Amino acid sequence: MKFFIDTANLEQITEAQNLGILDGVTTNPSLMAKEGITGDSNIISHYKKICEIVDGDVSAEVISTEFDGMVEEGNRLSKISDQIVVKIPMTKNGVRALKYFSNNNIKTNCTLIFSPGQALLAAKSGANYVSPFIGRLDDISSDGLSLISEIRQIFDNFNFKTEILSASIRHNMHIIDCAKIGSDVVTAPLSSIVGLLNHPLTDSGLKKFLDDHKKGNF
Ligand code: G3P
Repeated sequence: MKFFIDTANLEQITEAQNLGILDGVTTNPSLMAKEGITGDSNIISHYKKICEIVDGDVSAEVISTEFDGMVEEGNRLSKISDQIVVKIPMTKNGVRALKYFSNNNIKTNCTLIFSPGQALLAAKSGANYVSPFIGRLDDISSDGLSLISEIRQIFDNFNFKTEILSASIRHNMHIIDCAKIGSDVVTAPLSSIVGLLNHPLTDSGLKKFLDDHKKGNF
């Protein structure tokens, strides 16, 4: 399973990259705004910086909701680097734009996926990734992980090459459950990724090893 980090924060991206487990980055307009990145030229230069830090795919979301605007914006974003994946919302215009980019060999990530039907349409349109939002479904007392299972089944039935990029991760167990189901990618905040490191028996076991070593007690 690939690990992406879901942030536009350069320090956190660098920390995940230095850990040696990072396969890519996802951003969205909210995450860019959180870092204070506004205006076309600042946004473009921020994506350039992200691409310089990581080796893998970097999702850059369009703001336009009209087909022509999505195409113009996506073409502009895709010129930043081969690493850029144009992130397109799941709308009727979005589906048309996914097909356009697929026909033009530009990588896409279809975002705001909340149902198996939406994922199926995105895959049919040639999206490279679909982003089902697990946490936001859980937030409304629905079941985000069931959606991942349903999409996995559908994509496997028809051998779709579109990768399931599980998003809106809230905690470590979301990552484990996505891995068990067979999500191709998980995009998570740094805290959830490094949270996988923790186990109290590791901490107490290491403490005992080091204490015994100090005492020469082998
Ligand atoms: O990648 C999409 C993700 O950022 C949404 O996460 O926490 O805003 O639901 P969240």
